[in-house]
Amino acid sequence: MISLVGMPGSGKSTVGRHVARQLGLDFVDTDHLIEQRIGCSIREYFELHGEPAFRDVEQAVVSEATAMTHVGVMATGGGVVLREANRDLLRERTTVMYLRTMPDDLARRLRNDTHRPLLQGGGDAARRLRQLFQERDPLYRRAAHFVIETQRPSVHGLVNMVLMQVELAGLGRTSDGAAARP
Ligand code: S3P
Repeated sequence: MISLVGMPGSGKSTVGRHVARQLGLDFVDTDHLIEQRIGCSIREYFELHGEPAFRDVEQAVVSEATAMTHVGVMATGGGVVLREANRDLLRERTTVMYLRTMPDDLARRLRNDTHRPLLQGGGDAARRLRQLFQERDPLYRRAAHFVIETQRPSVHGLVNMVLMQVELAGLGRTSDGAAARP
């Protein structure tokens, strides 16, 4: 299984979906699985129960999703690397690719975002993203087998970069149709 980690807005879900389609593999998005489980939006859950409760659900979902043998590509939430248990699980069970985007590029992409709880509440989203990036960049690197610098390429460009890494790592399709493990 290939998993994608990185900051909010780095393109994990979009790129993951395209890569999965190109490789003929099943795709899963942990944020989507979390919303199915909690029965409301992540933003609402944050407001009602707070971030630690959300991280508990996230950890349970990551544990289950990384064990789904039919899944070939997985996108994760930006904060998944905050817990060591998640980083360890991802590294052990999947090939982790970090889509590394600079915070100012992210701020441009997320200008009109209303879904991400950590970027709401007014204030300076660009500053918040720089802060999050500083805290998390070392954690994404720690979790990742590969770092893909995204700067400002198109989705198409990013998909090709990921596919190239998949090929270099010898992770193409195996005879049973699943992507190989690291
Ligand atoms: C979060 C990122 C979100 C989602 C939640 C928390 C974070 O996912 O999991 O809002 O801590 O950065 P995206 O990276 O898809 O925005």
